[in-house]
Amino acid sequence: MMKVMIEDHTNMELVLKEVVQHATHFFNDMEDRPVSIQSYEMPKKELSKIGIGASKTLEYFTQHYAKGLSGSAGSRYLGFVTGGSTPASIVGDWLVSIYDQNVSSSQDSIAGLIEVETIDMLKGLFNLSNDYSGAFVSGATMANFVGLAQARQWVAHQFGINTSIEGLYNMPPIQILSGAPHSSIFKATSMLGIGRKAINLIPCQENREAIDIERLTEFLEQNKSAPCIVVANAGTVNTVDFDDLVAIGQLKKKYRFWLHVDAAFGGFAACSPMYRELVKGMDYADSITIDAHKWLNVPYDSAMQFTRHRQLQVEVFQNNAAYLGGSIENPDFFDLTPENSRRFRALPAWFTLKAYGKCGYQNLIEQNVELAMQLGNKINTSSHFKLLSPVRLNVVCFTLDKEVITTEMIKQFLARLNQQGKVYMTPTIYKGVPAIRAAFSNWRTAEKDLEIIWDALIASV
Ligand SMILES: Cc1ncc(COP(=O)(O)O)c(C=O)c1O
Repeated sequence: MMKVMIEDHTNMELVLKEVVQHATHFFNDMEDRPVSIQSYEMPKKELSKIGIGASKTLEYFTQHYAKGLSGSAGSRYLGFVTGGSTPASIVGDWLVSIYDQNVSSSQDSIAGLIEVETIDMLKGLFNLSNDYSGAFVSGATMANFVGLAQARQWVAHQFGINTSIEGLYNMPPIQILSGAPHSSIFKATSMLGIGRKAINLIPCQENREAIDIERLTEFLEQNKSAPCIVVANAGTVNTVDFDDLVAIGQLKKKYRFWLHVDAAFGGFAACSPMYRELVKGMDYADSITIDAHKWLNVPYDSAMQFTRHRQLQVEVFQNNAAYLGGSIENPDFFDLTPENSRRFRALPAWFTLKAYGKCGYQNLIEQNVELAMQLGNKINTSSHFKLLSPVRLNVVCFTLDKEVITTEMIKQFLARLNQQGKVYMTPTIYKGVPAIRAAFSNWRTAEKDLEIIWDALIASV
């Protein structure tokens, strides 16, 4: 077996050339691939006794598996909130595997310092003040988890308890207030032992997914003695609505709560002077979540968590051990995030930020929003569909223009749409109405795609 590995090592340049050929073919022909694969017969699984080497494995994979991979990184995949990888981020990502650094600490390489530098660049991109620190995690779900873990630690401290040592046994129930939180907030409370029931949904403004500030203030006033957590939403998945972060931030002066802002993709509004107002006040947050594999357009999986309370973060995540060589006085990455060993996740982000800069991201965000608005306008004037909310940023939330709309009707419509392989959209339910979402978050998406998207929609009615 080792013999095959050694042969591969000797032939690595050749093997990598084959990979480049396969990869550029996939990358360049993205637009010709089916945007989603609805069914695929998997080849028979077996672990062979004798390996066939990297080159033959690539050939086998290309023949039997690669056809089943979708063009989800392409321009017309509008499901969920899915970014594509920019060319420079792919360069960085490929190198991550070659360098294979373990960024759990900064002891043996500058990889950790590059992560710090990347976080600083991102603070510049999002106009975050200097007193935030941050780290890369695998996605916004984990960033929400890390933010809420610190929030839990802070609330416990208000009761004179250190949950990181004592657990939650002596704590009164923790309250989390939010208007329209993402499902990952519920997941995080479950993972943190706070429990999903801790989330107290405060009503939103009429026909909006933005929290009603008066109702939030009322609740805080009535529960003044109990410190709590507020999760503000900067970009909801259905209609990309934004809580009034300035108003919530001002409430911090009067009431005791930890403010976590989930800005998984809405945070990118900060990149454009046209939409920056939407995230005004994000700086009031104690902790912030922003995804990188969404609108930064780096490969999965990657997100950032930002905090103003690094010390609390270390209390929760510290992983000190003699063999790891860290120290409480000088915490390192393994003291900041759930993982111990960590991928060099910052590098693709570093490459793309360096390659395209602030202007590149401003253009990307503005282009996606412009296209979402154009689709919104088409829907608004069509007799087949109706918009369920104004298009505020990059998501169009709409439904069929029928008197009665059922989940089954939307399911069947989406099956017809997605089976064409030209565009991919996903369902939702907005204010009780079964609906469709189209999310624009890929650097490749251009004017030419709108026509294809529209024709596919009409053909599916
Ligand atoms: C607002 C918000 N928060 C959190 C998440 C979870 O993101 P991830 O899939 O990166 O964990 C999403 C994903 O769409 C989101 O839109």
